[in-house]
Amino acid sequence: SQRTLVLLKPDAVRRGLVGEVIGRIERKAGWSVTALELRELDRGTLETHYAEHVGKPFYEPLVAFMLSGPVVALVVEGERVIEGVRTLAGPTDPIAAAPGSIRGDFGTIVRENLIHASDSEDSAERELKIFFPGRF
Ligand code: GTP
Ligand code: MG
Repeated sequence: SQRTLVLLKPDAVRRGLVGEVIGRIERKAGWSVTALELRELDRGTLETHYAEHVGKPFYEPLVAFMLSGPVVALVVEGERVIEGVRTLAGPTDPIAAAPGSIRGDFGTIVRENLIHASDSEDSAERELKIFFPGRF
């Protein structure tokens, strides 16, 4: 099976949606949460995590948002979790995301889209090391 790195972004934590979102992930057959921590991020971690976006127009506002409060970082393990959590999350733009998806049900703003999930096996491996060094 696979492992993926999930972040519940500061909007999800502020709005009290942590239980709701983790509940949706946990209820998928055979998936489990194998690491979980509430924490404040720092600029360096975000620069590494979002390396592909450094320099883009939305990068600085994205970082400011990700520093605006604690996130919940979690590791989810199970059958096809990398693709699967992306499906539960829905597309980046919450207005384009279908109702029934996390972003579609709870989001309106592209930046404040509630959840991050690794987008490939390579991303998952890279991101697990950033957020849970020594464990993965
Ligand atoms: P993540 O799981 O957070 O990586 O989202 P994603 O893979 O769906 O999107 P992507 O990696 O392309 O962008 C990372 C994050 O930057 C998104 O989740 C948004 O919060 C933000 N973002 C991406 N594109 C835009 C944009 O065009 N405008 C703004 N304001 N924010 C963006
Ligand atoms: Mg991404």
